[in-house]
Amino acid sequence: MKFEYRTHTCGDLRENNIGETVVLNGWVDNRRDLGGVIFIDLRDRYGITQIVFEPTYNEATHNLGKDLRGEFVVAVKGKVRRRPEGTLNPAIPTGTVDVMVDELVVLNKAETTPFQIKDGIDVNEDLRLKYRYLDLRRSEMQKSMYLRHKMYQLVRNYFDGNNFMEIETPFLMKSTPEGARDFLVPSRMHKGKFYALPQSPQTYKQLLMVSGYDRYFQIVKCFRDEDLRADRQPEFTQIDVEMSFVDVENVFEIVEGLMKKLFKELKDYEIETPIKRLSYSDAMERYGSDKPDLRFGLEMTTLTETVKDTEFRLFKNNAAENKIVTGLLAKGCAAYTRNQLDVLTDFVKKLGAGGLVWMRITENGLEAPVAKFFSDEEKQKIIDAMKASVGDLIFILAGPKTKTLSIMGALRLEMARRLELIKADAKPALLWVTDFPLFEWDDETQRFYAMHHPFTSPKIEDISLMDADPEKVRARAYDLVLNGNEIAGGSIRIHDSQLQAKMFKALGISKEEAEEKFGFLMNAFKYGAPPHGGIAFGFDRLAMLFAGKSSIRDVIAFPKTTSALSLMDSSPSEVDDSQLKELHIKLR
Ligand code: AMO
Repeated sequence: MKFEYRTHTCGDLRENNIGETVVLNGWVDNRRDLGGVIFIDLRDRYGITQIVFEPTYNEATHNLGKDLRGEFVVAVKGKVRRRPEGTLNPAIPTGTVDVMVDELVVLNKAETTPFQIKDGIDVNEDLRLKYRYLDLRRSEMQKSMYLRHKMYQLVRNYFDGNNFMEIETPFLMKSTPEGARDFLVPSRMHKGKFYALPQSPQTYKQLLMVSGYDRYFQIVKCFRDEDLRADRQPEFTQIDVEMSFVDVENVFEIVEGLMKKLFKELKDYEIETPIKRLSYSDAMERYGSDKPDLRFGLEMTTLTETVKDTEFRLFKNNAAENKIVTGLLAKGCAAYTRNQLDVLTDFVKKLGAGGLVWMRITENGLEAPVAKFFSDEEKQKIIDAMKASVGDLIFILAGPKTKTLSIMGALRLEMARRLELIKADAKPALLWVTDFPLFEWDDETQRFYAMHHPFTSPKIEDISLMDADPEKVRARAYDLVLNGNEIAGGSIRIHDSQLQAKMFKALGISKEEAEEKFGFLMNAFKYGAPPHGGIAFGFDRLAMLFAGKSSIRDVIAFPKTTSALSLMDSSPSEVDDSQLKELHIKLR
């Protein structure tokens, strides 16, 4: 047989093909030798078909079949038959038929692969990444890639259907501070000058609004040189969106429509809209996080008022200093052992807490190492505020607001894990977090930073606080959260150059610096900038959640490791001296 192209894929054949002569191409998934008959599972990305080499059927081909090994690439021609009684495989769609091979061509041999090409392998991820092309040959990876592909199509289709235009923006741009570190690209033609890879197309999409493209979107790569985690990559993909003549509500409506469509098409699930909303300050107080996981309750309770007059110094002092005392109720955990409590105390200490106050509620009332500091009435007040009953355990932390709430938020997640509060069939929990602070104070550099980015608009009613009380200013900024993951973030922008100047001033950016770094945007705003706002989704994170994975690396074809390496092609790598010379770069 000379090579012939397939008539069917390995996922196609069914009972109605019985009797047909077909050609299949694919990889040898596995082989079984049973009493002289060779059974091969032939695989491609559409599925698996059993092919059979039988000496009594075709002796010459059967002999050729003996040499086949795992991952050989072959073409076979043969006749589809019903599988003999007792050999049907209901687990696969082609399981009622197999192909009796008449002709075989080995298109390519394969060495033994470093790991098996099958689902659920227990293999070090580094090895998978080194041989990513083999990893991607596995069915579960192919499923994730397909889901990702589907997502691109649905997203494009949705935005196109809503009058949005997809416009590409440059990858080589001016370095502008946006929060993370830039990846820089040296210029050969302009000695000593650098382009930056975009952390996001933020400035371009705002310029497009000035140009009148009132509904823009782009599925786009972004680059950030930051410390990596399971949900962060140095290059990642955003669904970037910007709209003119809109307020927060209009952005939410478009985003909710997209989420509805994605959930429906990918999961056949109807999400409830409008999506629930929580202000940043409520999210922090109740869940200790700006991306709370609402698949379970376990809310925190602020106890500052309740305990401010007690004799317990830790509580009293923190309350007096305008800090916070926050409690978490662990239902039915009063019997936790000393050892269990020590482990949890270590857990919060590692996160920076001074210690963990705990109280058991027993038949005799509130029992705790610190109980002696509280009167019976105060104990009862704590029990009431926490809505605690006999058998429960209360955890309390006191200290500076954001830090203390965040640590309690982490303990909340840890307790949810220990108490198995997140059920496998839990409904997806979507949430808008709104009204973020406009500024974030940085102790190290002793200055304010924009919590989102410097183009984010303050709430109009808070503008007057910008000079005197910047920490109190809320932004017209929002994040979309899914199951405790930040999947999108955006804001209504400043479109007025005076307000923008005020913002730069509050950020300690001088007029000259603002002109140097953002002059092009400021200039554009002089020529009729419409009010505008937008949002960007972390596409990889969304794909990860839809695919039910716990790392975005599992939904990216060729990801980097957490130390930003590509193990497959060994990048980053050294370059020739001549290349450096051309770029006017000398290594120290
Ligand atoms: P932001 O910085 O919040 O906003 O990014 C938007 C979303 O992108 C995802 N994301 C990441 N995903 C993977 N790896 C990373 N390193 C990474 N960093 C961010 C998150 C995040 O919610 N220009 C603004 C958007 C706007 O204001 O319209 C921006 O980039 O899911």
